[in-house]
Amino acid sequence: MRHLIVPNLLVEDTLSVLKENGWLAQGMRVVSHQDGEHRLVPLDMGAPAELPESIRDLEITLIEGSANERIDSDWWSHLKKLVGKKEIEKHGDSWPSSHEFISDMMVVRIEESLDVHSASIAEAKLTSHPHIRLILRDEGVQGELRIRKLSPIGARIDNRIVTKSIPKTHVSTRVIVKESGVRIACDPNRAYFSSKLQTERLETLSLAKLLRKHLGRPISVCDPFCGVGPALAPLLSEKGLVSELLASDLNPDAIELLLQNLSAWDRREYPMEPTTIRRMFDDRIVGVADAMDLAKHPEFRAKWDMLIVNLPHRTIDILPSLVGLLDTSSTSIVRGRAIVAESEIDAANKAICAALPPRLEGSDEPSLSIKRDYSSSLRLCSFQAWIAPF
Ligand SMILES: C[S@@+](CC[C@H](N)C(=O)[O-])C[C@H]1O[C@@H](n2cnc3c(N)ncnc32)[C@H](O)[C@@H]1O
Repeated sequence: MRHLIVPNLLVEDTLSVLKENGWLAQGMRVVSHQDGEHRLVPLDMGAPAELPESIRDLEITLIEGSANERIDSDWWSHLKKLVGKKEIEKHGDSWPSSHEFISDMMVVRIEESLDVHSASIAEAKLTSHPHIRLILRDEGVQGELRIRKLSPIGARIDNRIVTKSIPKTHVSTRVIVKESGVRIACDPNRAYFSSKLQTERLETLSLAKLLRKHLGRPISVCDPFCGVGPALAPLLSEKGLVSELLASDLNPDAIELLLQNLSAWDRREYPMEPTTIRRMFDDRIVGVADAMDLAKHPEFRAKWDMLIVNLPHRTIDILPSLVGLLDTSSTSIVRGRAIVAESEIDAANKAICAALPPRLEGSDEPSLSIKRDYSSSLRLCSFQAWIAPF
């Protein structure tokens, strides 16, 4: 989560700017910086990538947010009332300690041993988070389209909490998420979306700006696993950053949401219905496509300054079939994510280097940086590679 590093004396003023604009993260705490002279103030996901002048000079750090203790203790006390102290102690660390917010929905992972308590978990979470409408149990990402199975376990209906026979009319998962000042339409039951990738997307934005500076012109961007387009939101919002764009995905539902998003971000009328990939405007190629086939198509081949590869469980295998998309007449960048066993990271770095054309002189060799645990042995990592013209 983004935190502003604020000198102790400026904390009150900064908090009032953030509160006024709704940019202070709800349910999270301001924490002390280890230097004792600053505090770390948590930014709401919707706070813009570029902050206003009065606070623009403050540095930003990316750290795990600290939950507001009052809300945290609220959840435990509601849960205790519902299931009793003995049950709480019996299941110890198995109780869900974290959750993900997607707009007014909360996504929770519940271990099988706690199946019988899922209604109580939903009720306690809804009681301690009054702005939440729907609690969804995360049953994992499934299939090639990486769609999460999310089952409703609790809803707030007319100020009542309902955990049994939740009416179909109240379980819609189609929402608008506000991230870095941009609105993103998504439906995590129909197309992959994770609000946890905001930091990743901001890092991609910084890289894109560096590439623009290096090339001295707007850059062309290719996102062949774009989902509903969250990685593109900050890029398209940055004036003069993106020239041409290719955005495609295998999932037609993702493309349907992407078209709505592009209409808003690009301020142009895109078609409402998803179609096979095609040129929709002179500078926009959008639609349903298998990424592995794109480089075979002369219209899409050798055209892109930035290639985003976000299919982390297959990235290393598929890189060779994507490289042909890069415009190698000038410097280009590949930005990717990969899921790798920690013990295999060195080998994966070698495989990435072998799959890519020669690196730009003076740039670092691509190397996976661990972002978080994916399972007990696997790590979710990201990398970037600066490719030399040839
Ligand atoms: C991990 S998700 C990333 C989505 C999006 N980039 C994001 O950050 O939210 C991977 C996406 O790749 C898509 N996908 C899977 N296999 C594909 C393929 N062969 N060609 C194109 N897209 C594919 C899935 O439908 C899914 O939307």
